[in-house]
Amino acid sequence: MRGTLVICPDLESLSREAARRLLAAVNHPRKDPRAPFRLVLAGGSTPRRLYQLLASGEFRDKIPWPRLHFFWGDERMVPQDNPQSNYRLAQEVLLKNVPVQRPNIHPIPTQASPEEAAQAYENELRRHFGRGTPAFDLILLGLGGDGHTASLFPGAVALEEKHRLAVAHRTGLKGFDRVTLTLPLLNQARRVFFLVAGGSKATALQAALAGAGRLPAQRVAPRQGELVWLVDAAAASRLERVRVQPAATEVAG
Ligand code: 6PG
Repeated sequence: MRGTLVICPDLESLSREAARRLLAAVNHPRKDPRAPFRLVLAGGSTPRRLYQLLASGEFRDKIPWPRLHFFWGDERMVPQDNPQSNYRLAQEVLLKNVPVQRPNIHPIPTQASPEEAAQAYENELRRHFGRGTPAFDLILLGLGGDGHTASLFPGAVALEEKHRLAVAHRTGLKGFDRVTLTLPLLNQARRVFFLVAGGSKATALQAALAGAGRLPAQRVAPRQGELVWLVDAAAASRLERVRVQPAATEVAG
């Protein structure tokens, strides 16, 4: 397995560990202490508790919010007020409850076609980062039961994208069309944290950590960055040789 595996007893302790590590990353000494910290938020439901914690008294006042810029790893092509919107989750649970400047919030547009939205987001990323492949300070990702991450699904054409930063994912009849960041962009990150909770993810997690493979989540391997898997005991229940302790167990990669 590449990276660090941290096994926490449950979603609450996983979320706390993620908040603690995010805080450490944001406050990590840097050449220019005023430099922006660019954070990519995960979609789905797992990060909800983490977002609540970041907006809570326990963490809120320790985070230099004006330095943070918020992006998304993927988005469903639904209106921003739709309960399925990844933007809406972060906006309702975190962003509206902390002193973030509006220009620091970079949602994936959803009013156009997925292709136009992906191009618009790519333009936004290039405007923000300038030339070259952007290196986010931290990317939060989830894991689907089929091994997908962001909206990079098994067998999808998007997985083979080598140059674009964001692409459309058409799901056909079922589900939502989406926009997703691409592997070249994810693998340029300084840090990637996977947040994985629940027994329904145990098989996908076991496969994702089983070394080189073709699952989308297995292809997230930051070139120079740190990769941390933050998982709960239920998701880790199929991992051999890893005893689950009452506290967070760190298994170096
Ligand atoms: C999405 C997500 C997706 C998610 C995983 C896990 O838009 O659906 O980006 O990649 O992170 O499917 O979702 P849960 O946290 O809801 O299990």
